[in-house]
Amino acid sequence: MGVFATTDDPGSTGHEQVVFCQDKQSGLKAIIGIYSTALGPALGGTRFYPYASEEAALADVLDLSRGMAYKNALAGLDLGGGKAVIWGDPERIKSEPLLRAYGRFVETLGGRYYTACDVGTYVADMDVIARETRYVTGRSVEHGGAGDSSVLTAWGVFQGMRAAAEHVWGAPTLAGRRVGVAGLGKVGKYLTGHLVGDGAEVVATDVNPKALEWVRATHPQVELVDDTAALVASDIDVYAPCALGGALNDDTVAVLQAKVVTGAANNQLAHPGIEKVLADRGILYTPDYVVNAGGVIQVADEIEGFNFERAKLRATRIYDTTREILRLADEEGVPPAVAADRLAERRMAEVGRLRTIRLR
Ligand SMILES: NC(=O)c1ccc[n+]([C@@H]2O[C@H](COP(=O)([O-])OP(=O)(O)OC[C@H]3O[C@@H](n4cnc5c(N)ncnc54)[C@H](O)[C@@H]3O)[C@@H](O)[C@H]2O)c1
Repeated sequence: MGVFATTDDPGSTGHEQVVFCQDKQSGLKAIIGIYSTALGPALGGTRFYPYASEEAALADVLDLSRGMAYKNALAGLDLGGGKAVIWGDPERIKSEPLLRAYGRFVETLGGRYYTACDVGTYVADMDVIARETRYVTGRSVEHGGAGDSSVLTAWGVFQGMRAAAEHVWGAPTLAGRRVGVAGLGKVGKYLTGHLVGDGAEVVATDVNPKALEWVRATHPQVELVDDTAALVASDIDVYAPCALGGALNDDTVAVLQAKVVTGAANNQLAHPGIEKVLADRGILYTPDYVVNAGGVIQVADEIEGFNFERAKLRATRIYDTTREILRLADEEGVPPAVAADRLAERRMAEVGRLRTIRLR
């Protein structure tokens, strides 16, 4: 795996710190991965998941913590990238002692790592963890938290989509465009509202009948199609994947009608190289981790004492960041996903370097 290899070793993952935590009595087995603190304390959620093996849990935390460093850098936050995994089935083993034991381990890192919600952990869990550590975000509003992060996630996706529309059609609006939303969950619902408000024609799909009922009742003008395959193959201008990861695979990209892909789902590119296939087909893909950063911007704001308007202003800047990435992609002749990585690496290096200037 090369976790403990030196950074000039090609086998190295480049992580600063990887911490294994165990509390036998509560059943806690957790790994906290800190990829970079070049820009500030590492922020990233805790995934509670029944991994098949410790190797699988480790591989996930290394991957996810690296991704957070890039996401936080491009979100303009003074935060580095980290993530944690708790290995086990949350349905079976999640308990107050386990979460509090985990909180104590987070506290031992002295603020090098701030946690948040992820798959398998919820706002109520963060409130429990917060009884043992100050270094936690994603708490409930009653506990000074930011509440539902999908509000600003959707707002940020909408901003990224406006920037893509401007790049392709000349104006930062979705008015008159046909936008296909796959997944009407927490983010998809808010996004649909923004799109309808902007004058877009929305066509959507979801596997959950309740989500379909919601859209029929709230936005009767939204057209519904049977499934994502039908949505992707239909005559849409923009595709917004807002369900699960891997939405952009060889099959979907081959039939996709849209000129723009901008959505909330994490890890939309099913495999490396698919961003090139999209570019070759003339489809503009705005990197998922850039446009869906509104949620992390929302919870990160808790560190300063949550202020919704300030957080919204920061999430609105996803429009400018997306524009800059698309400009850089054109200038350097690379897909936007590559340009985004380069911009993130530049910020980590240039701003991170300033810490070498001694203050006293
Ligand atoms: N909530 C956030 O703040 C946030 C932040 C960043 C990224 N994301 C990502 O955005 C995506 C959506 O997040 P969410 O919070 O809205 O999740 P969610 O679980 O509330 O919604 C997902 C929706 O997708 C639907 N769905 C599942 N499989 C489907 C399929 N095959 N076809 C059509 N619909 C399907 C579900 O029924 C559900 O309504 C996820 O990939 C998530 O990781 C969310």
